Amino acid sequence: MDFSLKNIPPQKGRIAVVTGANNGIGFETSTAMAKYGFKVVMACRNLTKAEKARSDIAKELPNADLDILQLDLSDLESVKTFAQKFKNRYSRLDVLINNAGVLIYSGKKNKAGIELQFVTNHLGHFLLTNLLLEQMPDNPASRIVVLSSLAHKDAEIYFDDLNCEHAEDAGAAYGQSKLANLMFADELNRRLRRSGKQIAALAVHPGGSDSGLFDEMSKVMYYTFKLLSPFILHDNAAAAKPSLFGALSPDVMGGEYFGPTGFMEFKGKVGVAKRSEYSRREDIALKLWQISEEMTGQSFL
Ligand SMILES: NC(=O)c1ccc[n+]([C@@H]2O[C@H](COP(=O)([O-])OP(=O)(O)OC[C@H]3O[C@@H](n4cnc5c(N)ncnc54)[C@H](OP(=O)(O)O)[C@@H]3O)[C@@H](O)[C@H]2O)c1
Repeated sequence: MDFSLKNIPPQKGRIAVVTGANNGIGFETSTAMAKYGFKVVMACRNLTKAEKARSDIAKELPNADLDILQLDLSDLESVKTFAQKFKNRYSRLDVLINNAGVLIYSGKKNKAGIELQFVTNHLGHFLLTNLLLEQMPDNPASRIVVLSSLAHKDAEIYFDDLNCEHAEDAGAAYGQSKLANLMFADELNRRLRRSGKQIAALAVHPGGSDSGLFDEMSKVMYYTFKLLSPFILHDNAAAAKPSLFGALSPDVMGGEYFGPTGFMEFKGKVGVAKRSEYSRREDIALKLWQISEEMTGQSFL
């Protein structure tokens, strides 16, 4: 497989949605997708930040074709409104990049009482993807790219405690949400194949980069992170490369998991990423899908 992104033809006329497009990896992903010629719909929860990001991209790329639509993934009604507005405005969607995410240690919940990382990182994207699927042309260049993380490796789906209220590790809920991202991509791809569709769903992880993701860490951890990150991590533009590869490479089939292949998978060239044995369990992925349908109140595929 050729892991470079050389020779990708201009993508004029194609439409991409990037969630969390205003910051970090999502900002760099949106910039690169616009450079390739996509119309990029920036799906952001904060419109002021989104406008600032749009004007920053336009400064670098005056011809960038950008739109903004408000989306709060932690609120399932907002996800439904976004999907409806998108459908009213556009008749097709070629690439969906489920990039937005939060990392928190506080056990915060949304209005409906669902742990904030599970709903933002997984459930909101589960609902969004399934609501937008019918807009996607049925061909192998149509892509759903889901961002997972190295943090999936130590996690399980805690079906008896999805809010992780009894977890001893403060990072358990984040790990669970990122494992859910990976297992959702797998299960979605299996369902697409079974229904005879050619659309590809896959997961990627960005390695590590100094984005806004770590702002909630304790002060000691945060400053240690800031000190070490230039040496062991890569920048947000490099961290966006697995997403871009998943979105654009003609070699992608669906069901893969890509990420950086250098030191501890924190950085380096894009390649096949390592995954936990647990993440391969189709029975768990199926159960997660069913619970996600129950929690979003919608059945899919
Ligand atoms: N950076 C890393 O080292 C790393 C490692 C592994 C995985 N990841 C994954 O990479 C993805 C991108 O994260 P990042 O590192 O670029 O972090 P970031 O700089 O904090 O960006 C996260 C983006 O998600 C948005 N977001 C958060 N909550 C949202 C909500 N409820 N609805 C809609 N958008 C929301 C944020 O919007 P606001 O600006 O409004 O907060 C922001 O645009 C995440 O899925 C993360 O889990 C990152």
